[in-house]
Amino acid sequence: MTNLETLRTEFTKHFSVSPKHIFRAPGRVNLIGEHTDYNDGFVLPIAIDRAMLIAARKRNDRIVRMVALDLREAQAEFSLDAPIERVEKNKWSNYVRGVAWAMQARGLLLSGVDLMMHGDVPIGSGLSSSAALEVCTATMFREMSELEISKLEIVRLCQRAENEFVGVKSGIMDQFISALAQTDSALLIDCRDLSYQNVTLPHGVTFVVCDTSKRRGLVDSEYNTRRAECEQAAKFFGVKALRDVSFDRFERSEKDLPPMVAKRARHVVTENARVLQAVEAAKQNDLTTFGKLMNASHESLRDDYQVSCAELDTMVEIARQQPGCLGARLTGAGFGGCTVNLVEDKSVDAFVANVAREYQRQTGLTPQVYACHAMAGAGKLA
Ligand code: GLA
Repeated sequence: MTNLETLRTEFTKHFSVSPKHIFRAPGRVNLIGEHTDYNDGFVLPIAIDRAMLIAARKRNDRIVRMVALDLREAQAEFSLDAPIERVEKNKWSNYVRGVAWAMQARGLLLSGVDLMMHGDVPIGSGLSSSAALEVCTATMFREMSELEISKLEIVRLCQRAENEFVGVKSGIMDQFISALAQTDSALLIDCRDLSYQNVTLPHGVTFVVCDTSKRRGLVDSEYNTRRAECEQAAKFFGVKALRDVSFDRFERSEKDLPPMVAKRARHVVTENARVLQAVEAAKQNDLTTFGKLMNASHESLRDDYQVSCAELDTMVEIARQQPGCLGARLTGAGFGGCTVNLVEDKSVDAFVANVAREYQRQTGLTPQVYACHAMAGAGKLA
């Protein structure tokens, strides 16, 4: 059974009535442009063929009843008429609560719903399962409550839910790509003014995701520290965000910054430039350059931004030894999770088999390795 059929069947069993609609929002992999979004910079993600689905039916009252199919049908509920608060038990439900909170805080009137969620974005692996759930929830509420709000507004509300309700100070990339992705394209997003353009993916190659199976530890506190260091650097340069600092300007002042802050700034300044170069390379179908930029991004994240870990570095090293691999880098926040690899189409099958075997041999961990296809952003499936 497909995920869609499973969800429809299970919803019907649980609520004794079929769902009215099923919504989908994808996870993502970022091709290049890491830790640049909260510096008002550039990112280049794609939405992947792994997604969160929500089946829903409107209720006549203002109660939201939730069932998480993948968590042994864990259940939770809340009222849209009472103040919506974060819970410690059934933490998974905080994403739905947070989105409802942000939408109501914006003055939108929501309908009560019965909903069931089911997805195949692995949790904690850096493929943005939480953003997928938030965007899916907002898309569902928009339709079920007949609201006139744009996708960009959904993106902003979901980021607010994540930042202020769930309490993770992430940037805007993950919610953005989950809501606005286009099939077969990456999105170049300018995280300052939120303008974006489709970038057709290069031909003859596939982006392969390698999940190290090392779940991200420490990520929230380290993430917040990096953000603070970037803000410190921006303050030093007297600019709003590191996006405004050119490489020349950075180099002239590098020695005057505290060494650690200088390293963080170097990553952000060079990474922003790499994103724009990668977009040009993609337009020319210059795969070699695209791959080299991915490699340089990894080195910068490992040495200057210091968000890699032994498992990610091992995965990248193994990947680069494979025939047909043009570039490999960690993707997402770091400290575990996934790498993204640019692989020639004809080498993909061997790459998948060899990397999985070799990584397991070297680390004792069982990885997940899969070829990705760029999918469309959130919407109503049925
Ligand atoms: C996480 C955050 C994003 C972004 C990346 C790093 O995925 O949610 O906003 O900052 O890390 O590029």
